[in-house]
Amino acid sequence: MDKLDQSPSPVAFVIFGVTGDLTRRKLLPALYQLASENRSPVKLDIIGFARRPWGEVAMKKKLADGIEEFARIKPVNPGVVNRLLQDAAYIQSDFGEQNGYLQLFNLIQERGYRRIIFYLATPPAAYIQIIKELNICQSYTDDKEWVRIVVEKPYGNDLQTADELENELHACFSEDQIYRIDHYLGKETVQNILVFRFANGIFEPLWNNKFIDHVQVTVAETDGVGERGGYFEDSGVMRDMFANHLLQLLSLTAMEAPYAFNADSVRDEKMKVLKSLRPLTGKSAINQTIRAQYGRSRLNGRNVPGYLEEVKVNPDSVTETYLAVKIFIDNWRWADVPFYIRSGKRLPVRATEIAIQFKQIPLSLFNWKNLAGEAPNVLILRLQPDESINLSFGAKAPGPINQIEPVTMEFCYQEAFGSGPPEAYERLLLDCIQGDQTLFTRSDEVLEQWRFVAGIMEAWEKFPVKSLPKYPAGTWGPLESETFVRADLREWRTLS
Ligand code: BG6
Repeated sequence: MDKLDQSPSPVAFVIFGVTGDLTRRKLLPALYQLASENRSPVKLDIIGFARRPWGEVAMKKKLADGIEEFARIKPVNPGVVNRLLQDAAYIQSDFGEQNGYLQLFNLIQERGYRRIIFYLATPPAAYIQIIKELNICQSYTDDKEWVRIVVEKPYGNDLQTADELENELHACFSEDQIYRIDHYLGKETVQNILVFRFANGIFEPLWNNKFIDHVQVTVAETDGVGERGGYFEDSGVMRDMFANHLLQLLSLTAMEAPYAFNADSVRDEKMKVLKSLRPLTGKSAINQTIRAQYGRSRLNGRNVPGYLEEVKVNPDSVTETYLAVKIFIDNWRWADVPFYIRSGKRLPVRATEIAIQFKQIPLSLFNWKNLAGEAPNVLILRLQPDESINLSFGAKAPGPINQIEPVTMEFCYQEAFGSGPPEAYERLLLDCIQGDQTLFTRSDEVLEQWRFVAGIMEAWEKFPVKSLPKYPAGTWGPLESETFVRADLREWRTLS
């Protein structure tokens, strides 16, 4: 720990929506892990704020149960849990009720907290109201060392609502106090994209349109929408995954080297990529996107419902559970290199990868059986699970018969480092406590992401469809998606 903070003053970690799933599954297990490894540089006191009539004892019990269930490393150490929750407090209040905030600020004053993190873990509909209330009570910040706010995605539902949210946030906090979470940035393998590219000399000279034919980014999930049908209906893959996680992966893959590894220079470079995306509007947006929904199917011996049969989903819905987009980045490095981006629910495997397909060799010399093909070089950044990086190439198969076979060089996280990567939230919460914004999305990035997506969504509205193509659960999306890349004489990779 290089930034060990010697000050004894604890941090008030105020969780709005402490009764929800995010707190139980992600936040508390991550805080527990930090505490058990002594990685948090300061003591944190959790102050829960929510509507349910839980009380302090019940909250502590539920949070401890959540840690027990979702901790990354088991068995859980009860001593660490007790320490983590020992000074926890609970405020029962509606998010719009001023009295709740008064109780909160009284508690903050009484206990003399000088550092505060407000964490918005509520449904997004409550964000603006909470921020407004925090703004009204501005005086609580007077004698504070620092005050930060963490905002979970979705930041708004489109460009306009994101803009409203940003205005509200900025009325109360300055940009260096705002931590917008895109949990993909907290993933070890996602951070490694930059290390791989910029801490090594041999890849970067090839990282451009002279050598790269195209890039595929895939985020595949096996689960359906399950109980989140109501939320998903309004978001679809476009808002849920593409407008944030996928565009962030694209930015990190395509950005130039920052002048230094700090929050603003990294985010400046990502921003340039977002600004260079060739806008997708009108017919080009229609032609360069494929949307589909998973149909009813039999999966692992059980029947699974189609998207239209899921709870809280409109049976006539045209919300996509699968999305593929072809994107061009109009800058010198990437001119004419297509980026094929896809993500879907109920695909055959859970896997996230970035595949860099290098160009064909200029001339084929070997008049042999070539099982590796004329473009054998693919670099795969496997982000999850089985985190790895591998490079495939052609090699002469041993023996008297002249034959070329595909082989790979592989780096596997688990083998190299003896353990899998930690949870994204552990890193993100630690960075927030330490005041490092590098892995958080900046305001202009969020708005630029929405600006790009707005063009596509407007086109979808302008050329409405009555229904979307279906794909059986457990397959790689609709046939349309295959023809989409085949039309460019390319193939989707099959992930396993
Ligand atoms: C979330 C989306 O942001 O990311 C979910 O809302 C999705 O729909 C999840 O399942 C995927 O995250 P991960 O870390 O499991 O790849």
